[in-house]
Amino acid sequence: TIVILDFGSQYTQLIARRIREFNVFSVVLPCTTPLDQVKALNPKGVILSGGPCSVYDPDSPAADPAVLAMGLPVLGICYGLQFITHHLGGKVESAAQREYGHAEVAIVAETPLFSGLPSEINVWMSHGDHAVALPEGFELTARTPTAVAGIANEGKKIYAVQFHPEVAHTRQGMELLRNFALDICGATADWTPEHFIQTTVERVRAQVGEGHAICGLSGGVDSSVAAVLVAKAIGDRLTCIFVNNGVLRKDEFAKVQKTMTEQLGLNVVGVDASERFLAKLAGVTDPEQKRKAIGGEFIAVFDDEAKKIFEAEKAGGEEIAWLVQGTLYPDVIESSSVKGPSQTIKSHHNVGGLPADMKLKLIEPLRDLFKDEVRRIGRDLGMPEEIIERQPFPGPGLAVRILGEVTAERVAILQEADEIVVAEIKAAGLYRKVWQSFAVLLPVKSVGVMGDQRTYANTCVIRAVESEDGMTADWAPLPYELLRKISSRIVSEVRGINRVVYDITSKPPGTIEWE
Ligand code: XMP
Repeated sequence: TIVILDFGSQYTQLIARRIREFNVFSVVLPCTTPLDQVKALNPKGVILSGGPCSVYDPDSPAADPAVLAMGLPVLGICYGLQFITHHLGGKVESAAQREYGHAEVAIVAETPLFSGLPSEINVWMSHGDHAVALPEGFELTARTPTAVAGIANEGKKIYAVQFHPEVAHTRQGMELLRNFALDICGATADWTPEHFIQTTVERVRAQVGEGHAICGLSGGVDSSVAAVLVAKAIGDRLTCIFVNNGVLRKDEFAKVQKTMTEQLGLNVVGVDASERFLAKLAGVTDPEQKRKAIGGEFIAVFDDEAKKIFEAEKAGGEEIAWLVQGTLYPDVIESSSVKGPSQTIKSHHNVGGLPADMKLKLIEPLRDLFKDEVRRIGRDLGMPEEIIERQPFPGPGLAVRILGEVTAERVAILQEADEIVVAEIKAAGLYRKVWQSFAVLLPVKSVGVMGDQRTYANTCVIRAVESEDGMTADWAPLPYELLRKISSRIVSEVRGINRVVYDITSKPPGTIEWE
């Protein structure tokens, strides 16, 4: 294990993912984590992340400086370099000139950290402070024309760089991180899908014992991989619940059940609650109210079903009480981060809490994984690409893509348009390249002409975006020919739509969904 202490950099999770690309397990902890907790993980090395603050600012996030005296190899990155410099007796100052973006760095001393690297490297910098005096025992290992870019104390195995090796713009960054993790720390490269699957299955089996578990499926990759892993551990003592909330895609309720049972061998209870949901959505036009209505109803439906399943199990004399959730590592990090909860732009409702009287205990088999790792595990489990590569689909489904009131009729119109968009994007070989691609139905009618008839019908928006993580996104420059095909198919095949427009807004300032 490599422990990464987080000082609040936007790149901290990236460091963890990079280390894991060498099959070395890494964890992100807030910088304020007591060292006992760090030691308990038995790490082979520690990385100090970047951060937005200045080390000499009394309110800056601080780690226990004793982390530098644990005898473990340490790599400081950006703020990490400044933290080391500041706490070991060197000096950090605000730079007259901020370094931001590409920079040429000259390597000026031989160190195992830079082993195999050329003497000049192109790196990514982003800092306002810099080290002006090195602590005792440290030597300068790299520099830009104006500033310190790397320092090291070989005896203590403490290394630091001012640039960001974890970002793709630093071309030799991966080599540098590999040198640190594998050679300097001597970490074992055993974080592989097989290893993860085996240990997770064993752990879940031990945890659940003879008990029973339930799992809410969404049709997406996270809940499916979580369910397959748990089923591998406890077989048909896992029951999956798949709810039709009335705002799924066309035929999705049937398709997902079929894949889950026939291809993945899961034990699935399908609950068609579309009418219940649509009744709750009647007359609701406010986006947040829609989310609340769907989130609340989902919990009610799921709860009813879970109770039925558990009653049946209890009648068989079994003790149950496990709930499987597809929580991922970024959520875990986020909830313990030093930054505190970020401002809610939209409330995201997926599986909410369940009533306390059921006393369900959580199994979260994916809570150590990043999304790309979940996909790797899914592939290793032999799951179909169709599930693994599925684009994200929001919990409130088509409801947040139907502006204005959600009715059965409008859902049906959007389902038809959505199906055409997905099919054409797939046919063009772009489904995996874009982050999301979908249709939105506007409460706007316009005049058109079809044959010799005047039409007066709905407007449909095509939205396709490229993104790494959904936090920021750019509209996708889909080929005109593809847009032409999508538009003409929708207007001619979908009754109720006579105009198609393309959304060319990035996020920010737009959001990906329209609500
Ligand atoms: P926005 O629209 O906020 O979307 O740019 C960012 C990502 O989140 C998804 N999204 C949701 N997912 N429940 C979800 O499970 C929601 O209420 C929700 N709203 C947005 C959206 O599809 C995109 O991937």
